[in-house]
Amino acid sequence: MCGIVGYTGKKQAAPILLDGLSKLEYRGYDSAGVAVRNNAGKHEIVKTNGKLAVLSDKLKKGKTLKGTCGIGHTRWATHGMPSEINAHPHCNDDRSIVAVHNGIIENYIELKEKLTGKGYTFYSETDTEIATKIVDYYYKKWKSPVEAMVSFTLRVRGSYAIAVMFEDYPEEIYVARKDSPLIVGTTEDGSFLASDVPAILKYTRNIYYVDNMEIAMIQKGKATFYNVDRKVIQKKPVKIDWDLDAAEKGGYKHFMLKEMHEQPKVVTDTLNSLINNGRIDLSAARLSDDELRSVDRVRIAACGSAYHVGVVAKYITEDLARVPVDVDVASEFRYRNPVFGENDLFVVISQSGETADSLAALRMAKECGVKTLAVVNVLGSSIAKEADKVIYTKAGPEISVATTKAYSAQLIVFYVLAVQLAYARGKIDGDAYSRLIDEMLNLPSLISSVLSDDERLKWFATKISNKKDVFFIGRGIDYAICLEGSLKLKEISYIHSEAYAAGELKHGTISLVEDGTLVIGVITQLKLAEKSVSNLTEVKSRGAYVMCLTSEGNYSLEEQSEFTFYIPKTNAYFAPSLAVIPLQLLSYYVSAAKGLDVDMPRNLAKCVTVE
Ligand code: AGP
Repeated sequence: MCGIVGYTGKKQAAPILLDGLSKLEYRGYDSAGVAVRNNAGKHEIVKTNGKLAVLSDKLKKGKTLKGTCGIGHTRWATHGMPSEINAHPHCNDDRSIVAVHNGIIENYIELKEKLTGKGYTFYSETDTEIATKIVDYYYKKWKSPVEAMVSFTLRVRGSYAIAVMFEDYPEEIYVARKDSPLIVGTTEDGSFLASDVPAILKYTRNIYYVDNMEIAMIQKGKATFYNVDRKVIQKKPVKIDWDLDAAEKGGYKHFMLKEMHEQPKVVTDTLNSLINNGRIDLSAARLSDDELRSVDRVRIAACGSAYHVGVVAKYITEDLARVPVDVDVASEFRYRNPVFGENDLFVVISQSGETADSLAALRMAKECGVKTLAVVNVLGSSIAKEADKVIYTKAGPEISVATTKAYSAQLIVFYVLAVQLAYARGKIDGDAYSRLIDEMLNLPSLISSVLSDDERLKWFATKISNKKDVFFIGRGIDYAICLEGSLKLKEISYIHSEAYAAGELKHGTISLVEDGTLVIGVITQLKLAEKSVSNLTEVKSRGAYVMCLTSEGNYSLEEQSEFTFYIPKTNAYFAPSLAVIPLQLLSYYVSAAKGLDVDMPRNLAKCVTVE
């Protein structure tokens, strides 16, 4: 996903732009560029293919590009290959208008035809160049930046966070937003814009979230917001309480390692946001017990790890609250024309709150008149804004592409929802309710203890780092844990792995098991342990190398495995919060042992805003 930054104020812009872009590298990109209004009042544009360091070196860390107003961009290619010519910023023919953009202009072909008919020519393959020339077209027509941005907003279809500099309007930057995240921050001596908080957090904690179809003009120390009726609108800033180091590595080698070790705090913070004085309080999400009682079916849609949380939620909610739960991969859900019931509750889970497929699934559910709830980590994100109700996870900024702390925070939300649904519907009594809450509140300390028990995982990681295929097998909630363990391993170590319902192996896939095949058996659900053990026996008799992940006390399993890892006992419903930790750590140490880019794995981006 692309990242955009902008600055206008007293200081030199280029170093600030490069610093801001460096904080957005986690979003995944393949080229970068900046544009600064120089002291002669002209726009200078410098772009490079590859990593930000190439651009920074070319600019001598920004020293060679003088000017106090500029915009910058890291590009994750969607239209046109990664290249210098396709990198942003883009401009009109005389460079009097320059722009950077994150998103996808869906009607770019139609717009290109329109502009070509007006005599425009194009030098790149990007939709952004077309967007920039649309702004130019309307500016030439209206001679007003605000009018040009309003016309742009009304004319283009798709998603965009676009920042534009107009040569006739020195020291000002104009932005417009639809569906791609965009924030603005102001201080006495400068104003900032960015795709995400980490880019400008070191300068200001008071952030304005630009909403859909809004335009803003930023000047030194001031931001003015407009709606598409050209009316000035008053917006309240959101105070970001993240520590500065929350967006930095904080002494850890990788963001992922830092974020794994933040999980006790994140789980505590998320629990505390939902449980007050020993009782669950969903008032912040405006979810009353009456509403919970009125739900006939829960429909969950999400992607990746967020989807895996949905699978955990299904097992727990159906077993505890006796409420039917459907879980779908959002990219499938949005196209399968689902049948909704009038008392369905549609729940979308998303760390970023910007995942295109999840956002589209939410919009589809809303169009069908279904009540919607979002479980999101990023304040003010599109999914958070568009859902009827929102429960925020308290994970703070998650920088590493492989999610860990956000996943753990999401689990907590669904434990809480399942317990409250069960209690509100009379499926559990007050004692069970209190006991479950106490067991949830005890999770952070248990997570800490698992995190500290990582020496043997480091050793085991070096043993398996050359494996080519790995199977994770489990039943019930253990299968849901396997889904996340498998994704963690493959996305950062590039080792092929599959999560399999243990009972399903013998229906074909067991043919792949041969001497030395690594099979990781997850057995935390005691009522299913016996069946799972027999599945481990089946693979072991075919030569598999077996690791077993189970709860303390199940010492008989050691006979079935070459390596057994124990997690502390907890309520079976909450076992995912503990079992996922060794699987995260194992994946991390394998990736580190292979010398891979743990935080920015190949081909991946932190937030997938394309379909
Ligand atoms: C998980 O480690 C991946 N980063 C990916 O599967 C991620 O969970 C998925 O893209 C969903 O992202 P979201 O939670 O921001 O919607």
